Amino acid sequence: MDVRVAADAEAAAVEAAGWVAFQLRSAVRRRGAATIAVSGGTTPARMFASLASLVVPWESVTVFQVDERVAPAGDPARNLKLLDALPSRGHHRRPMPVNAAHLAAAARRYAAGLPEQFDVVHLGLGDDGHTASWPPGDPVIDAVDKVALSEMYAGFVRMTLTPIVVNAARHRLVLAAGANKARPVRHWLLGDNTLPIQRIRRADTVLVLDTEAASMLAPLR
Ligand code: 6PG
Repeated sequence: MDVRVAADAEAAAVEAAGWVAFQLRSAVRRRGAATIAVSGGTTPARMFASLASLVVPWESVTVFQVDERVAPAGDPARNLKLLDALPSRGHHRRPMPVNAAHLAAAARRYAAGLPEQFDVVHLGLGDDGHTASWPPGDPVIDAVDKVALSEMYAGFVRMTLTPIVVNAARHRLVLAAGANKARPVRHWLLGDNTLPIQRIRRADTVLVLDTEAASMLAPLR
């Protein structure tokens, strides 16, 4: 795994955005199209803002969601709003159908529409070591489907890609910033198997941190 440490959260977002833009351009150059699945939370906003300013052939890019809270359209808790930072022209968007009447059937439909292999999957890291919507101890992490529903977590049921899909991607990016991520980052890299992030395949994965999130790594690097 390629670990990159930037000076602060903004620099980490810029580093991550530059890497994503490069991967999307490469995918379009090689295969004529690119697919990316993006996570939510609070960290990605800076990355999306930076990504919007970079050269990306958006008309050939399809953006999926890694996970989404089951909440009404327009609810501030929805991750989908983060995609509004991306250029409205061009890119194709595949929101998770969390307002469907039958969520399990909707998850199956979303799974049926996934690419065979994502070019990029973007992930965050929770201070409890979760990623995507794989809360610690939630059976969703062992789901055999490509898209599944979590149990209630931090106020919401969530629809999420599962490790099968995330680990099949050509490339993974984990972006984490802030002092509250230092402990889960350290425990992850030390091999703590209780952390859902530990299910991420490390080959072809780039981890971008700011110095605060990397602050407990010094002896490991
Ligand atoms: C979500 C995210 C989740 C997120 C982490 C980190 O829907 O909450 O997809 O996996 O990436 O919880 O969140 P922060 O960036 O807010 O710390």
